Amino acid sequence: MNIIKVKDYEELSKKAAKIITGEINHNKHLVLGLATGSTPVGTYQELVKNYDNKLVTFKYTKAFFLDEYCLSHPRLFEYSNKYFLEYNFFSKINIEPENVFGFDQRIEESEKTIAQMDQHLAENPIDIMLLGIGQNGHIGYNEPGCSFESTTHLSKLSYKTRLANQRFFSFADEVPSYAITLGIKNILDAKKIILLASGSSKAEAIKELLSLKISTDFPASSLIHHPDVTIIIDEDACSLL
Ligand code: PGA
Repeated sequence: MNIIKVKDYEELSKKAAKIITGEINHNKHLVLGLATGSTPVGTYQELVKNYDNKLVTFKYTKAFFLDEYCLSHPRLFEYSNKYFLEYNFFSKINIEPENVFGFDQRIEESEKTIAQMDQHLAENPIDIMLLGIGQNGHIGYNEPGCSFESTTHLSKLSYKTRLANQRFFSFADEVPSYAITLGIKNILDAKKIILLASGSSKAEAIKELLSLKISTDFPASSLIHHPDVTIIIDEDACSLL
């Protein structure tokens, strides 16, 4: 694992965006896998800046959603990962809509959307997977206990994850119980993985990851033997090392 320690969130976001920009300029047909959550927001902002400054074009880039909530009602759409990535990233760059691969948010459509995703992934292997990390070590919504062989699936969110994500919702009972996620195997199939961690709430998880103990109880430990993983961590996330 390549570990890059940076001072703060701003530097982390710039560093991640610089790596992704460089990779797209090297291969304009790059296929990205994209996380949501608060951690990558700055990276998307920096990528938008790079696009505005004509340092990169997304004309031929493809983008896969890492995961998506199963929402109980269409009125909750603004909490979806689809809304998040559209709002923070896709609406601000020149990616072609047909090059974006996401999930249906309706739980009754989960089997169909998972099958479609597997088909798209088979046709478009991911070059760079951008990840955050949950306080419980989840990557995507692969929660503790998930097999390292898992592929795209419906995941029951743990209490800890639902609690951590309450901050994005107006009411606690709106936080979804289920999400669809690329599996750990799909993540490990990416040529390159970039994992971001910022802030003291991630310090325990980073300490656990860098202890290099591999266990399904800590899904991020599946990354340890991947040949090309870059972890970008700020000082607060490193505070227990
Ligand atoms: P966060 O979420 O970026 O909002 O902290 C990360 C995750 O749960 O994977």
